[in-house]
Amino acid sequence: MKTELNKKYRIMNIVGARPNMVKMAPLMRAMKRIPELDPVLVHTGQHYDYLMSQVFFEQLGMPAPNYNLEVGSGSQHDQTAEIIKRFGEVVRKDRPDMVVVVGDVNSTIACSLVAAKERIPLAHVEAGLRSGDRTMPEEINRLLTDSISDLLFTTEESGNANLRREGVPANKVFFVGNIMIDSLVQSIKTARESELAVNLALRRRGYGVLTLHRPANVDDVDKLRAVLLAVKEIARELPILFPVHPRTQARIAAAGIEDMHSWDGKRAIQGNGVWMMGPATYLDFLGIVDGAALVITDSGGIQEESTFMGVPCLTFRDNTERPATIEHGTNILVGTDPAALLYHAAEVRRKMKLGQRSEYRIPPLWDGHAAERIVEQLHRHLIELSKS
Ligand code: UD1
Repeated sequence: MKTELNKKYRIMNIVGARPNMVKMAPLMRAMKRIPELDPVLVHTGQHYDYLMSQVFFEQLGMPAPNYNLEVGSGSQHDQTAEIIKRFGEVVRKDRPDMVVVVGDVNSTIACSLVAAKERIPLAHVEAGLRSGDRTMPEEINRLLTDSISDLLFTTEESGNANLRREGVPANKVFFVGNIMIDSLVQSIKTARESELAVNLALRRRGYGVLTLHRPANVDDVDKLRAVLLAVKEIARELPILFPVHPRTQARIAAAGIEDMHSWDGKRAIQGNGVWMMGPATYLDFLGIVDGAALVITDSGGIQEESTFMGVPCLTFRDNTERPATIEHGTNILVGTDPAALLYHAAEVRRKMKLGQRSEYRIPPLWDGHAAERIVEQLHRHLIELSKS
């Protein structure tokens, strides 16, 4: 469907969970600069709290979505099925020339399936990443989305190699760099003005940041308790700032850990050096990572952001789909043994005290211009399709 006379190609861009918004904002901006493109924003509503969704739109300068499917939370299957149903209704009424999905969340695969079955050209941004761990819902989402995409935009060399190995034709794959870094580059100056750490009397390089939300780490109360006790141990020397994901908050109450179980999920409270707070906004989060001595995380995107900022990152997982952050960057895969986490945190501290900064290089094409490269390619593809 064409809306305005000078707009030829209608592109539906999908966001659902908060990391999607960070990736989509620069893409929407780049599309708007090309008069022939008519970008439409679809929010599935997978994330819906103000701090998980709307504040990201505001801080990233994204327009309000043209469609909000308001699916909300549910089991993996219910959530995915509901998005398929509701997005299916949208494309039947308002058929786009292309659908663009980012990342690996349930919204990504759900909307990809609709596009593929409706035979609408599908582009996947952040394609080719593989953890090799099919117990992660994201790994299934990545494999399936890539297998039905027409254009696959990769962020790092491992993505190209994985897609080659899986037999994806080379002419569908474009190594464009990391779109998340586009947002970081655009926002870092403002993020450095964040007063979150200062207001808690935490000085630059005098604290660590923790995030935990993977089902494998937080859904089992015993595992969650073990890692949080290790974090409390680290916090005896280095205060830890812990913005808590809603999934994790629900489990912390059940874990019954001293100082933590009665937390209300909102106010910042401190107990034995661990500062718990509600989900951080995008700018506050970049700001606290930028000033941190180290980051402990099980997130994907934070491994990349800390690499770009040169902040040591201890990834509390057994695998990573982002090996460039280890090969080039500051990331250390510590596994899921709390003792290993304690060891590596002490090592980072020891090196810091000796004035040894971690050696790192920024991976190729993480330069703040991925969106332009992607949009140029999308545009070219749409023109070619319209000629055929
Ligand atoms: C999802 C993604 C994950 C991504 C993460 C970023 C999948 C399979 N997982 O995980 O890859 O790293 O987003 O945060 O898509 N909730 C709220 N408010 C919200 C959103 C969620 O309270 O706005 C709570 C609900 O209780 C919900 C739980 O958090 O059940 C988990 O949300 P969900 O979207 O299912 O997955 P995430 O763990 O956020």
